[in-house]
Amino acid sequence: MINIGVLASGRGSNFQSIIDSIKSGALNARVACLITDNPEAYAIERAKSHNIPHVYVNPADFTGKDMFYRRIADELKVCGVELVALAGFMRVVKKPLIEAFPMRIMNIHPALLPSFKGLHAQRQALEYGVKIAGCTVHFVDEGVDTGPIILQEAVPVLSNDSEDSLSERILTCEHRIYPLAIRLYAEGKLKVIGNTVKIEE
Ligand code: GRF
Repeated sequence: MINIGVLASGRGSNFQSIIDSIKSGALNARVACLITDNPEAYAIERAKSHNIPHVYVNPADFTGKDMFYRRIADELKVCGVELVALAGFMRVVKKPLIEAFPMRIMNIHPALLPSFKGLHAQRQALEYGVKIAGCTVHFVDEGVDTGPIILQEAVPVLSNDSEDSLSERILTCEHRIYPLAIRLYAEGKLKVIGNTVKIEE
């Protein structure tokens, strides 16, 4: 069983999908802690109702980003975390955390990378006019949404879609592929080769 640390800044529905997957027995893991940069994050309520320890790390308490990420890395290590899952963590992760967990940090992004990196990916997809959108789970490197891709799932973009309706359709897929990617990692089936990830049978 692996120990996961989740970083979230808000609603935490992906965090919930990880919790649910563990509860259902589909994912043999334990969420060792939730770390948030937002004391108002609804993710905290989810942690409380599942007896998951949570830590609020206030970026304003640190002189620079490196110190902030060093503290987060320390908290994760204290909790015995082996894999870090970013679940709506609204910051670009910096070196001290990446170096503490090399190819052991995952992120879920609401677009088919490498298209539509960064914020408001679903809006970017609608504005561009693509007919297929989706989501991506990837390992985190020092770029913004650039690390090796683990899993993707596509959805159609419908002609009457709003940002909300498209986001909702994508979110359903996010909740499916994020726990699955974590499960593949936990089972030792992910092999990173350069910027690609091979999934072993
Ligand atoms: C999701 O759309 C995820 O892809 C993106 O941020 C959003 C977080 O949603 N990284 P939630 O907090 O998990 O509900």
